[in-house]
Amino acid sequence: MSDAQARFAGYYAAPQAPWDIGRPQRAFVEASGEITRGPGDRPARVLDSGCGTGDLALWLAEQGCQVTGVDFLGQPLEVARRKAQVRGLAVNFLQLDALAVGEIPERFDAVTDCGLFHVFDDAGRAAYVAALTRLLEPGAKLFLLCFADAEPGEHGPRRVSERELREAFARGWTIEKIEPTRFETVPGIPGAEFTPGGARAWCATIRRK
Ligand SMILES: C[S@@+](CC[C@H](N)C(=O)[O-])C[C@H]1O[C@@H](n2cnc3c(N)ncnc32)[C@H](O)[C@@H]1O
Repeated sequence: MSDAQARFAGYYAAPQAPWDIGRPQRAFVEASGEITRGPGDRPARVLDSGCGTGDLALWLAEQGCQVTGVDFLGQPLEVARRKAQVRGLAVNFLQLDALAVGEIPERFDAVTDCGLFHVFDDAGRAAYVAALTRLLEPGAKLFLLCFADAEPGEHGPRRVSERELREAFARGWTIEKIEPTRFETVPGIPGAEFTPGGARAWCATIRRK
């Protein structure tokens, strides 16, 4: 197990991971019209990258999307598969490093990234964007939610500036929108206290050229 995998496994071994709010983040629900419709208004084929215990992926499936969720840990994926079974939803949950998504043969209209981009260091970030660049065809969109530099402190995920987002997707992508929003977290977890109402975050829509 890599250091990064061990770190996330530690979070999932705790009674609750700070991001695991049991429902999709509000920012994605608000953008649902855009995410869930593919070309010609057919239901979108969506990859949820770093899907964790699957709440966003399952919600997208409920909206009619054809969904694949990937995470590099088996444990949250088992939780996600159990939720899918209970709810009678078909989602393809795959254990895979997001740096390898460029090798998935399936085609997608959209990728959702709820809290993955902001875990990478500079080199990992570049490799991740390269993998997404390989995966998505022109016109496909990335919907990304990450902590913003407006969130105080240094605990929790890496803060991301608007400039860093623009630089990361400067080649091969068109930034359609970067807006301030909130990243909801589980309240009351020591060491994971953020701005009340949700950590300050960016919600970005980025289209593959
Ligand atoms: C902050 S959590 C967000 C989980 C989920 N998207 C949510 O909102 O509940 C980040 C997730 O990405 C996964 N992850 C971190 N690095 C990864 C990588 N390189 N490849 C795949 N998954 C990764 C972690 O295991 C964790 O489930």
